[in-house]
Amino acid sequence: AVTRTFSIIKPDATRRNLTGAVTKMLEEADLRVIASKRIQMTKEQAEGFYAVHAERPFFNDLVAFMTSGPVVVQVLEGEDAVLRNRKIMGATNPKEADEGTIRRTYAESIEANSAHGSDSDENAAIEIAYFFNEDEIVG
Ligand code: CMP
Repeated sequence: AVTRTFSIIKPDATRRNLTGAVTKMLEEADLRVIASKRIQMTKEQAEGFYAVHAERPFFNDLVAFMTSGPVVVQVLEGEDAVLRNRKIMGATNPKEADEGTIRRTYAESIEANSAHGSDSDENAAIEIAYFFNEDEIVG
């Protein structure tokens, strides 16, 4: 089925002027960008977005990283969008990511890993609603 997922092009990628390059890989994986905006996340926004990781040892560093520069938040649409997006992103740790994936190609480290993608349809809906109003999404 055609579904939606939520994607973030992270600060390490925007810093290196890779917004287009990452988006091109998403599009080549047959995902359509149906909403997109470049934002500076606040500390509160990042803490809320990553609340499930609040108890993890890397949480504070993650929030600092995600607020260290602009990000591009996107809604992607396509056949099985969550799985399709996770496949083209590759594993969280770029050293474990397959050849040809976004993270293998561009990520600097497990933290500065260039892209985020929702891990389930349920979380996709929550994450999309966290950053977008329905009228900003044009399918
Ligand atoms: P993301 O998919 O955005 O979800 C949580 C993020 O935490 C992850 O990508 C990484 O950028 C970051 N992170 C940093 N250290 C770790 C770690 N040891 N394990 C998992 N995620 C990590």
